[in-house]
Amino acid sequence: MTERIPGFATLAIHAGAQPDPTTGARATPIYQTTSFVFDDADHAASLFGLQTFGNIYTRIGNPTTAVLEERVAALEGGTAGLGVASGHAAQVLVMHNLLTPGDEFVASKKLYGGSINQFNHAFKNFGWNVVWADPDDITTFERAVTPKTKAIFIESIANPGGVITDIEAISNIARRAGVPLIVDNTLATPYLCKPIDHGADIVVHSLTKFLGGHGNSIGGMIVDAGTFNWSREGRYPMLSEPRPEYQGIVLHETFGNFAFAIACRVLGLRDIGPALSPFNSFLILTGIETLPLRMQKHCDNAKAVAEWLAAHNKVAWVSYPGLAGDRYHALAKKYCPKGAGAVFTFGLKGGYDAGIKLVSNVKLFSHLANIGDTRSLIIHPASTTHRQLSDAQKTQAGAGSDVVRLSIGIEDKDDIIADLEQALSA
Ligand SMILES: Cc1ncc(COP(=O)(O)O)c(C=O)c1O
Repeated sequence: MTERIPGFATLAIHAGAQPDPTTGARATPIYQTTSFVFDDADHAASLFGLQTFGNIYTRIGNPTTAVLEERVAALEGGTAGLGVASGHAAQVLVMHNLLTPGDEFVASKKLYGGSINQFNHAFKNFGWNVVWADPDDITTFERAVTPKTKAIFIESIANPGGVITDIEAISNIARRAGVPLIVDNTLATPYLCKPIDHGADIVVHSLTKFLGGHGNSIGGMIVDAGTFNWSREGRYPMLSEPRPEYQGIVLHETFGNFAFAIACRVLGLRDIGPALSPFNSFLILTGIETLPLRMQKHCDNAKAVAEWLAAHNKVAWVSYPGLAGDRYHALAKKYCPKGAGAVFTFGLKGGYDAGIKLVSNVKLFSHLANIGDTRSLIIHPASTTHRQLSDAQKTQAGAGSDVVRLSIGIEDKDDIIADLEQALSA
């Protein structure tokens, strides 16, 4: 008999987890320990030499986090995952595997403002040079590629503008350039979109948002699709050259289609150190168990709110790819057929001042700098998350002065709409 492949909701609850072998605990225990006792000296030596898989020290791996890693990798359809302290840490570890000083990567200019900052400032200090391209003109990606390009980075649904990126078209450009495509799938989650099915080689997440889903823990994840040939042309020496500290083993040769995730762990986490707390892993795992239920409700509520706003006389425009007339509607139907996510922007006819007034008058919505909580959230990006960017960058990132960003929660939709109604007429 062929083995049944579990469905998404089943994987969200079970992937990676077993009853605890010692106690029988059914929920994954929180292994709140820094370190793990070796069986004997040979066992210790083989763990340190990467000859045996096992636990050494929580900076490099932890059994609670291991369940989370396996679960997110299963949901994304990847070969392995690596949990880290935040979404931003995931991006650092990915690029640390790929780039050496002087190298370049091409990134969509429609990205979360924090990623634009990270790439423009911190990454530049590491000698990793970003070249921006426009997801609304795919040819700009092709033109941005040079012999120094080592990767392409995009978001599936871009924060905050409700932009859906054409993953397959950009994946084809990455293939022709011989570089991996990295997709930040934070806003979509694998419930709405699975970038690996569309040609992504690496998926990154801020677990802080919809995957954890309850606004209580910061975390990040790297998922290795297992698709990229790291040894071709020797362009990725971290993976294709012998590692002196591990008796000369070549990570790609030894670990095959999960070598990228291993390199992020045994070189990235080991040396850079942004480990995920086991307690956060536990909370995020619990959140993921209800991901399909929550995401569908988030999307259904978001569509209802977007439709209501689009008909409101104080609203100039609404950018939600789930709306029939939206410029990204066709891409949303292709990449996110179950719903276009729950984060979107709209513009107020009253501009900057009206935006400030709205965020000051909401009662059910929380005015704060996060997305992907059960609760409905609101922010005026130009005065907060995107304030460090120049006016041109703000506009490019979909965060002009009249823009308000919503992250629609899973409360009753009539209550969400009633709160916006009272705040808009206040
Ligand atoms: C799309 C996206 N990617 C990455 C990040 C960074 O994640 P973290 O805050 O967990 O570092 C965020 C945070 O808002 C985000 O929205």
